[in-house]
Amino acid sequence: MTPYILILYYSRFGATFEMAKQIARGVEQAGAIEARLRTVPAVSPVTEASEPAIPTEGAIYCSESDLKNCSGLILGSPTRFGNMAAPMKYFLDGTSNAWVNGDLINKPAAVFTSTSTLHGGQESTLLSMMLPLIHHGMLITGIPFSESALSTTKTGGSPYGASHLASGDSPHKLSDDEISLCQALGKRLAKIALKLGAE
Ligand SMILES: Cc1cc2nc3c(=O)[nH]c(=O)nc-3n(C[C@H](O)[C@H](O)[C@H](O)COP(=O)(O)O)c2cc1C
Repeated sequence: MTPYILILYYSRFGATFEMAKQIARGVEQAGAIEARLRTVPAVSPVTEASEPAIPTEGAIYCSESDLKNCSGLILGSPTRFGNMAAPMKYFLDGTSNAWVNGDLINKPAAVFTSTSTLHGGQESTLLSMMLPLIHHGMLITGIPFSESALSTTKTGGSPYGASHLASGDSPHKLSDDEISLCQALGKRLAKIALKLGAE
């Protein structure tokens, strides 16, 4: 089986999904490794309805096997009150089996987020998303300043991970710098996974 980088995202309005697609392009630029896009179901404080078994749009839901067998993980969530969205946290809270079995130990990981305000918590979300991945024994990677878009961006983009400012008339539209940094993150993680022996 061809090795793959799992790009696991939650997106309510589509901006984080747009980022996931650009990150997938970056992964595939590395060659010899695939991008596997997966999402997680929404959660609700009421139990009157459940999500369909297959999502109506975007990627399919992540399975235990998708997580266990990945060669690297790139985790994405919209920022909600300066932190990841509950559906992603809920998914992570259900990964005890992977933790007990050490499925993710020594695999590379990275994170990405989208916000509607420039200083509304991109970096706090990125940093807090890293914490459970560190518990899983993953090797956290960011974006180095050799990526020139990190210094020129007027919207999203952080050394801690890819980010997007979803504002204005086209909140889903990524800037050129954001696209460049999403792709750079995907490519970098894929290359690291290959160097670590993904085959
Ligand atoms: C409950 C809630 C909390 C949010 N909190 C923040 C926030 O703390 N900072 C911010 O800039 N944007 C915040 N937003 C805006 C989202 O992060 C932003 O619209 C994001 O791009 C949505 O991503 P999506 O299109 O992938 O769902 C919040 C949105 C919701 C619904």
